[in-house]
Amino acid sequence: MDVSEAISQRRSIRKFDDRPVPREMIEKMLHAATLAPSGKNAQPWRFIVLEGEKKDEVVDILERSVTSLKEAGLPTGSAEYSARTMRRAPVAIFVLNPRRTAQEFKDRWDQLGCLVDTQSVGAAIQNMLLQATALGLGTLWICDVFFADSEIGRHFDTGHELIAAVSVGYPAETPPPRPRKSWQEVTTWLGGPAD
Ligand SMILES: Cc1cc2nc3c(=O)[nH]c(=O)nc-3n(C[C@H](O)[C@H](O)[C@H](O)COP(=O)(O)O)c2cc1C
Repeated sequence: MDVSEAISQRRSIRKFDDRPVPREMIEKMLHAATLAPSGKNAQPWRFIVLEGEKKDEVVDILERSVTSLKEAGLPTGSAEYSARTMRRAPVAIFVLNPRRTAQEFKDRWDQLGCLVDTQSVGAAIQNMLLQATALGLGTLWICDVFFADSEIGRHFDTGHELIAAVSVGYPAETPPPRPRKSWQEVTTWLGGPAD
């Protein structure tokens, strides 16, 4: 599969079958992630791969947090559904930034540096997703883990900033493409011959 096909065939998958994912496929995804560009080649990413009980422990943490937020009358968005997806998928890859935490900016430059890091990590995640698509795997990029970011942070005890999780498995659904704005709608093109 070439890169254009992978880009157009990738979907967010929320249903997975029971087949285990071969370790070599996860390794390929992680390798693809580490080939992403990053600001100053800082490679501000760390990955924690969780399977079986180790994955379920973190899903339990997310679910407990969603329950207490609900009990306190606070919003929980789609976190309950995302936790369910994570439970169904055989693998979860947690993505962390080891370089800084958004809570402790020293100054504006530090804050901008955090934005640079976040873009770099986003590129790494997208590489992982595209590699998974090319391998016939389904993925879901999950930021609802933020509903339990301190609890999950304590659980991993790395001191790194939680960025996202990616659920991985063999897809048990084939969703149609989700709607997109056309590139023309979202682009201003100045100075060229068509301008
Ligand atoms: C940064 C980011 C965070 C996301 N977080 C979640 C999430 O927590 N739960 C979820 O179900 N989907 C999540 N998604 C998936 C989006 O809902 C999905 O990409 C979007 O609806 C478009 O669908 P598609 O990926 O199939 O094209 C996330 C996607 C991105 C890029």
